[in-house]
Parts: sequence; structure tokens; C-alpha cells
Amino acid sequence: MRLLVLGGTRFLGRHVVSAALERGHEVATFTRGVSGESPAGVRALHGDRDDPAALLAALDGWAPELVVDTSGQTRAAAENAAAVLADVAGYAFVSSLNAYRNWPPGPIAGEDEPTWDTPDDDYGPNKAHSERVLGAALGERFLTARAGLIVGPYDPLYRLGWWLDRIAAGGRVVVPSGLDQPISLVDARDLAGWLVEAVERGFSGAVNANGTAGMTTLGGLLETCREVTGSDATWVPVPEADLVAAGVQPWAHLPLWLPADVAGTAWDVDTTRGRELGLPSRPVRESVADTWAWMQGSERPAPPAGRELPGLPSGLEERLLATH
Ligand SMILES: NC(=O)c1ccc[n+]([C@@H]2O[C@H](COP(=O)([O-])OP(=O)(O)OC[C@H]3O[C@@H](n4cnc5c(N)ncnc54)[C@H](OP(=O)(O)O)[C@@H]3O)[C@@H](O)[C@H]2O)c1
Repeated sequence: MRLLVLGGTRFLGRHVVSAALERGHEVATFTRGVSGESPAGVRALHGDRDDPAALLAALDGWAPELVVDTSGQTRAAAENAAAVLADVAGYAFVSSLNAYRNWPPGPIAGEDEPTWDTPDDDYGPNKAHSERVLGAALGERFLTARAGLIVGPYDPLYRLGWWLDRIAAGGRVVVPSGLDQPISLVDARDLAGWLVEAVERGFSGAVNANGTAGMTTLGGLLETCREVTGSDATWVPVPEADLVAAGVQPWAHLPLWLPADVAGTAWDVDTTRGRELGLPSRPVRESVADTWAWMQGSERPAPPAGRELPGLPSGLEERLLATH
């Protein structure tokens, strides 16, 4: 079928394009042409989603039957897409657990929990607004995948990537002492393949798109990084109070680490519906190993504009190591 990827040249969208080509679709991408190029065999359409005239002009008569929307971040992007694509047979939107008013910290018992309905121009409220606008236009032909933590090759945010680099460098590594905190994730390739299948099969409604609660722990993930990189690193566990006192910011400075009061519930998300609809979950080790293999390649893309690379600021780890 004619399948349009809104996005498609960075991370998740790139895997959606691959999956759609593998499944025999005629694929187009719609991007500004800033992040990269689409592979051969893909109709590369260009324009800015925030411009109300751009999508229709770029389509130029090409009529998509299915849409996977990986790039929607703004209210305008959703409104413009709804105006042009309301007649397609299926539309899968990549939303976020942040669409839930109570996430983080969660827990999220199911897809019926309330989503944001405030006018703030913030990530979660914008995702929730996008879901409503697109859902109103497409009805039963609309699926929203509320993604949790996406990992895998081509991840330009380097949350797992920073740990892989740091652990590979070896020696004494500062880690949060709460290594038993749960964490759940979804491999971009699993989510991408499933999104394509989901629009083909006409799945609709909301789906929490993450690995199952309790699938691993932060410590388990870091141990897998140590194994995959063959590192001699040793852990130097630092209590949360010491990390905070030293100015270490959860998630940003020590990626994937959340304060204990949030970590206890944030990944307690019911993904039963996703599992029933066939969302796969490959072994964590495979995601870690393939991300590391990708990072050994020639080029590492810069993070998207406005996003900083995660990691401990220069000197901070040394100061923590000196006192622990
Ligand atoms: N990473 C996570 O853990 C996580 C968690 C939950 C949800 N999510 C969601 O998952 C999605 C994944 O994003 P991704 O970066 O991996 O997808 P992607 O489709 O691979 O990359 C983003 C695409 O959007 C295009 N784009 C950006 N701004 C645009 C604009 N104004 N007009 C047209 N195209 C535009 C980019 O191309 P150009 O720059 O060339 O325009 C690029 O192709 C996002 O919606 C994110 O909110 C991610």
C-alpha cells in the first residue's frame, strides 16, 4: 500500500521506513530535509509540518493510504496533518507516556488514565492534544502508541549510549546506589515493525508501547553494558542524597536514573493491550549489543536541535570518585 511516514530519517522513523519497505509498501517520507536523507526507493517529500500549506503541496497528488507519524511534537503539526490526511485508511501516531497527566511518576494502570488537557506548549500536553485532534479526524482509523523508553541503533539521544561509552572506558564508574530500581524499555525496531503492522491491520485506540513492567533493573542494564563492551569497569555506588548534593541531575547527568520516589512507579505501566496486539519485546541484551555495534560505526549523529547530549559534566565524576 502507499504508506507515508511523517518523519523517518532519524531514529524510530528510520526503522519504520525499513519495516515498511520490507513489508512491500510503497513508502514516502515527509521531513524538512535537515536530519538526513531517506534510503533509495523512498519518495522523499520535503516541508515543515508546522506550515499549514506544506504537506498538501509536497504530496502533489500522491495519496497515501496508511500513515505512521513519528515526528509529531507540536499542536500545529497534528492539526495540519489532520486537515490533509483525514481520509486515509489507517493512521498510527507515536505519542508518549508523557501524554498522561500523572506520568511521571505514574503508575499507569491502563490506557484509560487521564491525559493532559491544558493549553501549555509542553511535550506531554502537546502529545495529548495531538492525539485528540487526530483521533477526532480519523475516529476508528486512528491508533496512538504511547511510547515509554525507546532504545536501539540510531538513537540520537544517547541515554543508553552514554553508559555504553562510559562503561567501555573502564575503571571506577559512578553509579547510583539504587541499582535495583526497575526500568522498562522498547527497542525501536520492535516498535517500528509493530507500528507498520498495526496500521495494516487497522488497530485503533491508545496503546502503552513499552516493555513489560519489571523486565529489568537499572543495575541489570548496566551489567549488560559491561558484558557487551567487555569492560573491566567497577561500580562505585553513590547514594541518591550525595548525587543530588553534588548537583547531579537525574536522567540528564546520569541517563536512565530517576530519583527513588519516581523510579518506584514510573515504569509500572500496564502494557497488556500492547502485548495482546502483538507488540514484541526482544531481549535487552540484543538491544544493548546492537546499539553498541552501531556506535562503533563511522558516524554518530548529533542530537536533535535543542537537545543536549546526556552525561556527567566534566569534573563531576572525578569529584564524586574522590569522596566515595
Ligand atoms: N526517544 C524516546 O525514548 C521516546 C519516548 C517516547 C516517545 N518518543 C517519541 O518517539 C518519536 C520518535 O522520534 P524520532 O526522532 O525517533 O523519529 P524520526 O522520524 O526518526 O525522526 C524525526 C523526524 O522528524 C522530522 N521533522 C522534525 N521536525 C519536523 C518538522 N517541523 N516538519 C517536518 N519534519 C520534521 C525529522 O526530519 P528533519 O529534521 O529533516 O525535518 C526526522 O525525520 C517522537 O515523536 C518522540 O516524541 C520518543
